[in-house]
Amino acid sequence: MDGYVRSEYGNLWETHQCRPHAYGHTRSPGFELQAGLLHGHAVSIGMGYGAYLSFLEGWITEREFHRILKVMSTVGLSLRHDILENPDSLWSSQVKMTEKRGGNHCAPIPRGAIGKCGYLNALTRERMESTLIEYQNIAKKYPREGFGIEPHCRDVGLEDPSTVKQHAAHAVPKGSLATDAAMSENSVADPSESNGEKGQSNIEAYNQWISEKQVSRNECETSSSLNSVLSTATKSDTLKPPAFEHSTLFFPGAEEYANAMTSPPTADFVNIANETKAAKLFAPCMVGPIEGQFLKMVAQSKSDKRILDIGTFTGYPALAFADRIPSIGEVVTIEADNAAAAVARKCFKSAQNGYKVKLLETDARKAVTDMVHTGEQFDIVFLDADKTNYRHYYEAALNLLNEDDLIMAGNALCSLVYEENDPVRQSLHEFAQFVRNDKRVEQLMLTVREGVLLVRKV
Ligand SMILES: C[S@@+](CC[C@H](N)C(=O)[O-])C[C@H]1O[C@@H](n2cnc3c(N)ncnc32)[C@H](O)[C@@H]1O
Repeated sequence: MDGYVRSEYGNLWETHQCRPHAYGHTRSPGFELQAGLLHGHAVSIGMGYGAYLSFLEGWITEREFHRILKVMSTVGLSLRHDILENPDSLWSSQVKMTEKRGGNHCAPIPRGAIGKCGYLNALTRERMESTLIEYQNIAKKYPREGFGIEPHCRDVGLEDPSTVKQHAAHAVPKGSLATDAAMSENSVADPSESNGEKGQSNIEAYNQWISEKQVSRNECETSSSLNSVLSTATKSDTLKPPAFEHSTLFFPGAEEYANAMTSPPTADFVNIANETKAAKLFAPCMVGPIEGQFLKMVAQSKSDKRILDIGTFTGYPALAFADRIPSIGEVVTIEADNAAAAVARKCFKSAQNGYKVKLLETDARKAVTDMVHTGEQFDIVFLDADKTNYRHYYEAALNLLNEDDLIMAGNALCSLVYEENDPVRQSLHEFAQFVRNDKRVEQLMLTVREGVLLVRKV
């Protein structure tokens, strides 16, 4: 054990790849337990497939690729397993492994010669699926059709790990909601019982979890770390947003998970999505289920009556607001594009609360200036039209709102994810920085979808 720790020189969680150590391990954790495979067989499948990817990259010759397969096959290791027919588990493992490696795929595979290593830095799902089929067809030509000798834990008298995993997952710990409910119905719970090790109180188990699992995970500086709270110094302005080499804010899977844990959109929003698709409009413009639900909840929490939505597109946010304001309330939404406005109008007409929406088909820049001149009042203003005009809409909004009312600006964190040479990236950075320095407001930059800047007029 001591030697192992020394050889890993502080990299016990294998979060970096300074010493190549994980050949065959990028995807195998996704199917090892599920298939009930012995670890060596799962890894040899990963190695065989990795060798194929290396051959496709031109990093090893076909002969070297077959030499790797031949050695593993000769000693009885697996080159393939039926579980490879279902690529979902391999893919989710790859996503998790990429996350663990700091956002880099970084899969070590042979390069140059057997025994030397290179890192594969990208493998799309489509390519993974097609190359897996090719690899299995090759592996089938090996003895035993590429299957290993006694590859499963059960083959050698061990308990099948897939069932152990299920038992663990189904064993609801004491103190969890399900058990609490059952206990309150059937028996009197002993409050000293806990969900941790025997004899531990809940708070002891909790503190143990913090020290064992959370302390190391939180070692790097994050926005929620202690230093960010303690540092009261004003942040200095920067000419440009920082470099951020990603086209989205989140690692793959994070938003999908958040989405799965969020109330699903109702039929009116599914209809908007279908109509947007049918009209061949650029659907990613829609705020979508997470941000849409967020807008609904903000509208509800103040029981606002008049909301201004700048940049209707096909109407998702306008309807989200309409769903949460009283029937005497109104959502005024502005759209200059005829095709988008036509879809929005159709969707409002058929939606349950569409009657609360007033669609203005005009240029928003001029419309908001006119509203200020005529003294209109709103409780919330949502900006989601042309980003380079956010500053104009923001100034108008401050005149249309009262103290404590809210402005929300969509796509506010696209100052990180739009291309470096896209002027909109810079414009959003300058806008966020302006708001931060503006004494008329307080603000919160939320990492909801592509960023929502929430601004309260003080
Ligand atoms: C990002 S989309 C808005 C998406 C919308 N919030 C949703 O979730 O469905 C921006 C919309 O603003 C509209 N737009 C851009 N500039 C505008 C302007 N000056 N006046 C009115 N609409 C504008 C575009 O036509 C587009 O439909």
